[in-house]
Amino acid sequence: MSILNILQHPDDRLHISAKPIKELDAVTHQLVKDMAETMYSASGIGLAATQVNVPKRVIVIDISEARDDLLVLINPEIQSREGTVVFEEGCLSVPGVYDRVERSEQIMVQALSAEGDEFKLEATGLLSVCIQHEIDHLDGKVFVEYLSRLKQDRIIKKLKKNQKGLDQRGSS
Ligand code: NI
Repeated sequence: MSILNILQHPDDRLHISAKPIKELDAVTHQLVKDMAETMYSASGIGLAATQVNVPKRVIVIDISEARDDLLVLINPEIQSREGTVVFEEGCLSVPGVYDRVERSEQIMVQALSAEGDEFKLEATGLLSVCIQHEIDHLDGKVFVEYLSRLKQDRIIKKLKKNQKGLDQRGSS
């Protein structure tokens, strides 16, 4: 297994629309394992393949306190939505930025498991929000794009400043 590099916003590759997995082969199994390890190592609750520069429709999620309840969603599709909810969201591709986003409160999602079995899942609350956030990544959308233009500009400025700061520390 290996820890993959997570693309940082703004990066054009985060806007690529991911393609469905056609065959659950060894490459996909390896991708799922590496994505899970990458998510756990970054203390994230979700990661989409788009974020590790693999434009395929694969998501890993773990919202459990104990970090021992991995959910793998391959080719996920939201089949129905109900209600609205606002959560403060963050993203491993947008470090240090948290803001409120309105999403569907309850969703029914259909996907394939890591073993290739089709399943349906009814999700509410944080899990629902997390699944919607990750599917957005597969569609090339980063959560900050729901925010005002002004906020988005400020976020990009802040991130660029942080990246520059890291570069300087790294080179000294
Ligand atoms: Ni994210």
